[in-house]
Amino acid sequence: MSHSTDPRPMSAVPGAKLTGTAEVPGDKSVSHRSLIFGAMAVGETQVTGLLEGQDVLDTAKAMEALGAEVIRHGPGEWSVHGVGVGGFSEPEDVIDCGNSGTGVRLLMGTVATHGFSTTFTGDASLRSRPMGRVTDPLALFGAEAHGRAGGRLPLTLVGAANPVPVRYATPVPSAQVKSAVLLAGLNAPGETVVEEIEATRDHTERMLRGFGAEVEVDGRTIVLKGQPELTPQHIVVPRDPSSAAFPVCAALLCEGSDVLVPGIGLNPTRAGLYTTLREMGADLTYENERLEGGEPVADLRARFGPMKGIEVPPERAASMIDEYPILSVVAAMAEGTTVMRGVKELRVKESDRIDAMARGLEACGVRVEETEDTFTVHGTGGEVPGGATVGTRLDHRIAMSFFCLGLGARRAVKIDDATVVETSFPNFLPLMESLGASFRRENG
Ligand code: S3P
Repeated sequence: MSHSTDPRPMSAVPGAKLTGTAEVPGDKSVSHRSLIFGAMAVGETQVTGLLEGQDVLDTAKAMEALGAEVIRHGPGEWSVHGVGVGGFSEPEDVIDCGNSGTGVRLLMGTVATHGFSTTFTGDASLRSRPMGRVTDPLALFGAEAHGRAGGRLPLTLVGAANPVPVRYATPVPSAQVKSAVLLAGLNAPGETVVEEIEATRDHTERMLRGFGAEVEVDGRTIVLKGQPELTPQHIVVPRDPSSAAFPVCAALLCEGSDVLVPGIGLNPTRAGLYTTLREMGADLTYENERLEGGEPVADLRARFGPMKGIEVPPERAASMIDEYPILSVVAAMAEGTTVMRGVKELRVKESDRIDAMARGLEACGVRVEETEDTFTVHGTGGEVPGGATVGTRLDHRIAMSFFCLGLGARRAVKIDDATVVETSFPNFLPLMESLGASFRRENG
């Protein structure tokens, strides 16, 4: 479903002292994959802790349009009755992936090796994002894409009726591209091989193995054996480290705060922000470290304290790619300069996130510099003036980042549209309020 509700401007009120426990929702990446892989298994997959954000709800609808049965039993409790690898049928209508790059790119991979046509669209943000990075490798399987200029949505993908397996070296570090190729490979005979330019989040490899596929990983090379029978699973979705970043960072920024964020997955392909925050001197500890479903998990404890600017190395970018907006906010409140290198992928996210953060931070009185691939924020040592209105550009992470800045700034920060947080963190505002934050509804 495309974003159609009226924009809701809101301000974050400064002076919050955040305390208590923040139970953040399920992981977005794992939630999408639970529904898609469940739909490709034979029989019923059960999912506990599914993120009920708009992105994932759109993927649930898409799986139904392709022939799977998806049922909600209660909050976070879902089941998917899968049709087996190769068992999808042609959707009768356009598939609208709303705001979700992960949804549309994984689904394109899925249908690329089914002999029917699927037309995809999305909201204004998604329609502006590049799809050639996925349709190019899918063409190697025999799929044909007919989209707008630059491979933009709406786009029709004519799937290959007789797909061939593919060997593909990814030109950009992208788990979505890797996953699209592996998903297409599921319904191709023989071995599909992806060589990654850099290691990215590995949920697809881990979860497909859990469903019974043969997936070998050797360094950055992934080999998938096509046409497996996937066995239904009971998936317990871990809490999302990318969503946890917001209450964690807000606590680090707001004087007197002490917040516990329990049960956060710290898979090394996702945990780069937390390493960075600790290097900045954040009072951030991992409590009750354990393994859950084979993944490292901890309760994160974040307390207010001074932080200093650092250089964030380019090789860390993939493991914290969604966290640069909130890191920029932390950098603005820290002492000294933070330089983020190797971040040009941020320019093709839900918005151009370097530009969105740069303009918003400048409006709030923070000095920044940017090149195509680098973002530099000059910290204020806790003295961000605020008092500005920031454009969220249909981007949930931009909205939540500026909400956090507003809580720690001198004057309120107004966001032009709070509804965008529905994408990944539907209970963001009430959860932050339960910790002691206050937000004010504004007139447009
Ligand atoms: C995701 C991959 C990343 C990330 C997105 C989720 C995934 O995108 O930004 O939020 O679940 O595979 P890219 O693959 O474009 O880096």
